[in-house]
Amino acid sequence: MSKYIAAIDQGTTSTRCILFNQQGNIVSVGQKEHEQIYPKPGWVEHNPTEIWKNTLEVIALARIHVSAHASDIAAVGITNQRETTVVWNKRTGKPYYNALVWQDTRTTDLVAKYEKEGGLNQFRDITGLPVSTYFSGLKLKWLLDNVEGIREDAEKGEAIFGNMDTFLIWHLTGGTQGGIHVTDVTNASRTQLMNLRTLQWDKSMLAAYNIPEIMLPAIKSSSEIYGYSDHEVLPGVPVAGDLGDQHAALVGQTCFEPGMAKNTYGTGCFLVMNTGTELKTSENGLLTTISYKFGDQPVQYALEGSVAVTGALVQWLRDNLGLIQNSSDIEPLAQTVEDNGGAYFVPAFSGLYAPYWRNDARGVVAGLTRYVNKGHIARAVLEATAYQTADVVKAMEQDSGIKLASLRVDGGMVHNQLLMQFQSDILNTQVVSPAVAETTALGAAYAAGLAVGYWKSTDDLKKNWAIAHTWNPDMPEEKRDAYYKGWKKAVTKSYEWID
Ligand code: G3P
Repeated sequence: MSKYIAAIDQGTTSTRCILFNQQGNIVSVGQKEHEQIYPKPGWVEHNPTEIWKNTLEVIALARIHVSAHASDIAAVGITNQRETTVVWNKRTGKPYYNALVWQDTRTTDLVAKYEKEGGLNQFRDITGLPVSTYFSGLKLKWLLDNVEGIREDAEKGEAIFGNMDTFLIWHLTGGTQGGIHVTDVTNASRTQLMNLRTLQWDKSMLAAYNIPEIMLPAIKSSSEIYGYSDHEVLPGVPVAGDLGDQHAALVGQTCFEPGMAKNTYGTGCFLVMNTGTELKTSENGLLTTISYKFGDQPVQYALEGSVAVTGALVQWLRDNLGLIQNSSDIEPLAQTVEDNGGAYFVPAFSGLYAPYWRNDARGVVAGLTRYVNKGHIARAVLEATAYQTADVVKAMEQDSGIKLASLRVDGGMVHNQLLMQFQSDILNTQVVSPAVAETTALGAAYAAGLAVGYWKSTDDLKKNWAIAHTWNPDMPEEKRDAYYKGWKKAVTKSYEWID
């Protein structure tokens, strides 16, 4: 039996390849960052060709570290930043334009137009999503309407669309020599073009956004053999798992029962709760989406609270203001003060996502006095992550009727003790992190491993999950309420910045 499962995690800031063993432990990692391209305020792009080259490099790196032969790898699973949109030519493999990243707000005017015509929630019943700059459908419409040649070539069947999962699978399985053009139900659910009930592209959505169906990938389950890599870095290895990164983290955290939830602290924060085979609509600004679908088994639905900017705010403090040198410097700086000194930072850089869905919002710092110093700002930056998560948890509890007994967390920011303790305090809930912190890649590995029989069932996976750290709430109710009230007030100050 092969020793490892490979996972490719194509994230917003970097691409990684991780090899996992049977116990779900990491045996090797290759990682490479890619350029963030900001051509105009609100525009965020990636170069898909750079990302494909990085993918090949990180696979090779991961293999070299443990001298893994291709035959040591039973299967490869892909997980990816969701919604990020690419159109490329199927004869040349060349993208027509940079990838429009999920955070990109260039479709704000289009959102306003649809809002005027039918309201932001007009497609929620079909897709589970509000009209927003966030999802792929409007990004794809923008490319079709604004980049010369795309619509014409799409109608001829030559220009094809995909999120990063589709782009990488197409290249891995042959590219111009016959690459496979597929996606999975989780990624498809974030395009706003898929019908959540039929799990097929929805004709009325394609008509509403004027998108030719011929350019869309086939929708598959999250765990099955889609094809085989014909690339020399992974010759003959089955490509057998595909999950959007937040769905993959849910799987990596083994949240297989209805009511189980995880929160991933990355560029943004994404809290996903498994709702089982039942499709739940949200009354409180959450998204209805898909947890996963393993092969022929029934689809599992989810509720999600997506927050656009959390870790990205720390990066902004580092890169745009130079207030810290490394992201990890934020914690010692925040520890120089007792509290936020009255300052609140609302990082509405891409508008506000769940539960507010305000495309018109932009970032604000509120509550400043001369007392406030950089320690307070650092603290306000970290607290913004915890408050935004609290907003989502409250909405989740209302929608599901389930009070979270404990929150499973993962992602880069869980190493920040101050933030995790504050998170537990502000939620008044236990917060737990797992022994294998790379839950996103692990989830993709699990999906691929299940498809080829490397793991037999989800019971095998559950046995691999263990707690690394627990944070327990320790804040008087009065203080918690006063802090949260301050946050809610600050949020309202970010509204109506864009007409
Ligand atoms: O919806 C966007 C999300 O999938 C991006 O995740 O971890 O790449 O920031 P991440």
